[in-house]
Amino acid sequence: MRNESIFIIGASTTRFGELWNSSPRELAKEAFTNALSQSGVGVSNIEALYVGNMLGGMLGHQENIGSFYAEELSLSPVPAFRLEAACASGGVALHNAINSIKAGLYKTVAILGIEKMTDAGGDLVASALMAAGSDEERGSGITFPGLYALMAQAYMQQYKIKEEDLAEVSVKNHYHGSFNHKAQFRFQVSIADVMKSSRIADPLKLLDCSPVTDGAACLVITRDESIIPKNSVSIIASEVGTDTLALHKRSSFTSLRSAKEAAKQAYAKAGVKATDVDVAEVHDCFSIAELIALEDLEFSEVGRAAVDVKKGKFTRGKGKTIVNPSGGLKACGHPVGATGIKQAVEIYEQLMGTAGDKQSVKNAKIGLAHNVGGSGAIATVHIFKKSKMQSAKIKTKFKVQNLQYF
Ligand code: COA
Repeated sequence: MRNESIFIIGASTTRFGELWNSSPRELAKEAFTNALSQSGVGVSNIEALYVGNMLGGMLGHQENIGSFYAEELSLSPVPAFRLEAACASGGVALHNAINSIKAGLYKTVAILGIEKMTDAGGDLVASALMAAGSDEERGSGITFPGLYALMAQAYMQQYKIKEEDLAEVSVKNHYHGSFNHKAQFRFQVSIADVMKSSRIADPLKLLDCSPVTDGAACLVITRDESIIPKNSVSIIASEVGTDTLALHKRSSFTSLRSAKEAAKQAYAKAGVKATDVDVAEVHDCFSIAELIALEDLEFSEVGRAAVDVKKGKFTRGKGKTIVNPSGGLKACGHPVGATGIKQAVEIYEQLMGTAGDKQSVKNAKIGLAHNVGGSGAIATVHIFKKSKMQSAKIKTKFKVQNLQYF
């Protein structure tokens, strides 16, 4: 069976931010209920649940995540799985869900990405996130802003760019985030704002960093032709690459082998080139991460990403390939296990033309989502295509059943 025959039929996210009044249960239910009602199918059509989540155990003392959310979403007794791959948990959950459909196990599944981070203190969150690093890194006391700061130092030396060039990424993503009513931060920032924000790990400042965030996102995907609407989005490539956990064991600090490999495979499988991509969500956990991503995904030549960002090559209203129309991790927020699914939801909305104020492309055909775990130990690349079902049957509206929380 070809990858192209898997379609997204429902996609939704909660608001992202410091959601102190919402429990993980409530966030999951909101994202799932909205995705399900958009899909037009009922709970009984969902044959399996995949959950992307990193910190449920360390911050929420709940490790039995698959069953926990299957019960909460009234999906039990369907099979339910928790996928953990640090900040790429969402992308890896989507990859496994796709593979299960390709293997013929199921026709229609839901993928939930969820993280609740802001109820814990900053120190606990920073040390929990470092579970994605290597033993030596943890032992040295370094945190993720520190690891990406080392990458930024290496990149700045190698390609002779300045801190102001890194800041351009944050300026773009906060501009895009200002159109997103679900974003954690909707304010715009200038280069001067970034430069004078507090120094977190040299050369990264507060406004070079993604924040700590709560949020959930959900997709319903299917290969069941009877429920695919005429206009939809198909997933035409889903690839994963890995690398060493430790930064110091890598031959390059200015590129991620995991992401480059996943991108190469994904372009080959999808039969598209970087220049065909109209819109992309990339993993900008720190400003430097987006520059590296733009090069790993071949949107920019090596060493040229900062120049391209500054020229507006990836900015709505200016560029051809719009990058991070949601505001990215920087402005929309980064609830780590939910991010990979939120990226896919964003691309779906951009391709369907349903992104509302944040709609950044017109009549786009190809979209891409790039999700990274740790400092690049794992990366996923998904490619999406706006598709018209030739022989689409009239989509059946099912009554959404069994949802006790309605
Ligand atoms: N961008 C913009 N503003 C931010 C922000 C960010 N990344 N993080 C926090 N803020 C704002 C808060 O909203 C708050 O504003 P207010 O005073 O108007 O309410 C203010 O800055 C202070 O917030 P606080 O939570 O005390 O910040 P902090 O200093 O504890 O944390 C970071 C800042 C950058 C250290 C934290 O956001 C962080 O660790 N980010 C990286 C997370 C990470 O590593 N993720 C995994 C990536 S691989």
